[in-house]
Amino acid sequence: TPSYKYVLAEKRGEGGCVGLVTLNRPKALNALCGELMEDLKYALLELDADPNVAAIVLTGSEKAFAAGADIKEMQHKGFVDCYAGGFLQGWDALTRIRKPVIAAVNGYALGGGCEVAMMCDIILAGEKAKFGQPEISIGTIPGAGGTQRLTKAIGKSRAMQMCITGDPINAQQASEWGLVSSVHAPDQLVNEAIKLGERIGNHSKVIVSMAKASVNKSYETSLAEGLQFEKNLFYGTFATKDQTEGMTAFVEKRKPNFTDS
Ligand code: CAA
Repeated sequence: TPSYKYVLAEKRGEGGCVGLVTLNRPKALNALCGELMEDLKYALLELDADPNVAAIVLTGSEKAFAAGADIKEMQHKGFVDCYAGGFLQGWDALTRIRKPVIAAVNGYALGGGCEVAMMCDIILAGEKAKFGQPEISIGTIPGAGGTQRLTKAIGKSRAMQMCITGDPINAQQASEWGLVSSVHAPDQLVNEAIKLGERIGNHSKVIVSMAKASVNKSYETSLAEGLQFEKNLFYGTFATKDQTEGMTAFVEKRKPNFTDS
């Protein structure tokens, strides 16, 4: 694996089946400058293309997953710089990763940090995690999906409150509100996320990516269109060897031997 300036990319879990990407800009609490986001994109693309990798875990440090977009980089921008330069547009690349991405959030996930976590497919939190959209307190609003993904995740009233007060929520609240799927001891969090990745790795990679695409479709479309999309992919699974193998193995009372084909 090539090395990056602001992220560490490695393979963990059984047989190296889980990619682990660690945001690594400790002096700025992993503030998401342009260079870091480029590094993150290429690290994710590289693991997405690796045939041995079943799932990817994205984490930061125990103190900060990421404290937001880099305020020092934004401070002197004007409208035209943002508009003509497509500021933050490259972040969308994260949502085009085809393998499941699990965010393991310890510490601060603020502003762009919370938005990057929400671009992932599953969020696990450490007990000390804090999620927030504090942009309002620096005179702007979320610009990488915060008003949209947070509203879909926790509902209008709670998302509105977070976006217009800037007040963060803790891991317990995030769990009760359904923003995260589980809460763990901070020093166990990454291991738990890797274990989750290994469980995903027991299944067919091609079928897993269909399941991911279908769940994500529900965020983008009407129920009728989403149901049609799901049905088409469901039928599509019947064109794979892994569907034949999975069902045969069940009937023969043995473990399936998926070949990702
Ligand atoms: N951008 C740039 N630098 C940041 C940063 C950010 N978002 N967050 C922290 N840093 C830097 C600090 O400037 C400081 O650097 P120096 O030592 O050079 O001064 C260093 O990281 C450590 O930070 P603090 O001293 O502030 O650490 P703390 O423990 O006292 O506080 C914190 C931690 C509460 C997270 C605080 O750093 C903070 O409030 N950060 C900003 C949070 C924020 O507003 N995020 C939203 C950004 S806007 C955005 O994300 C737009 C969008 O939608 C994409």
